[in-house]
Amino acid sequence: MAPQPNFYNPLSLQIPAVTQDSIGCTPIDKTGLNTRFMNPGELEAVVALARLAKPKVVVEFGVNEGRTAKALMLNIDTIERYVGIDVPQGYVTDKAVQRREVPQQPAHFALDDPRFRLLIARRGSHDLAADDLPKCDFVFIDGDHGRAGVVKDTLLATRIVRPGGIIAWHDYHHLGTVDVREVLEEYYDAGRPIQHVEGTWLAFMRV
Ligand SMILES: C[S@@+](CC[C@H](N)C(=O)[O-])C[C@H]1O[C@@H](n2cnc3c(N)ncnc32)[C@H](O)[C@@H]1O
Repeated sequence: MAPQPNFYNPLSLQIPAVTQDSIGCTPIDKTGLNTRFMNPGELEAVVALARLAKPKVVVEFGVNEGRTAKALMLNIDTIERYVGIDVPQGYVTDKAVQRREVPQQPAHFALDDPRFRLLIARRGSHDLAADDLPKCDFVFIDGDHGRAGVVKDTLLATRIVRPGGIIAWHDYHHLGTVDVREVLEEYYDAGRPIQHVEGTWLAFMRV
């Protein structure tokens, strides 16, 4: 979802925060890349979270134009394989706020990297099973932000992430336009060790 003014309101977020310093956020190489959909510092924080997992294989739900995929492949040299998932043009997202996000040129920033593979399915991740995806070390969940989408992507992620790996979610915020916060706080209440990165819309969990 596109960034908003006053995007961060910690008082309305239940999941405990860790500082950006504590996950090792540093400046990154963003050559040729925009920061669409990301608030200040979030692209750096996704790279830092992924680095914690020392990833060989990465899966991203909602790869869009491949900007984050490219940033991760540019900045993390352990990555051997990256699978980005999205939907075809004309797909109608569950949440109204996401309807203009479906990309015209899916993953175009990342397609020139031989480690990258684009996976488009008619209903995106709703059509996928864990066996369609590789075992991996880092999953970035940033696709369908409706309840059914977040639940499905989290289920797939927990089945494919290897022990010691990390699942990260974008759009953990108080704005009420998507269901990410509600679903993640239910998981947290049920005992999952989710944390969020202070000053961002990112939440994450080590598996
Ligand atoms: C906010 S954008 C993702 C931005 C991207 N992760 C990045 O960092 O550059 C959300 C993406 O999710 C995709 N999407 C929506 N529903 C989906 C689904 N069911 N499966 C996979 N992708 C989906 C949209 O087409 C859109 O490209």
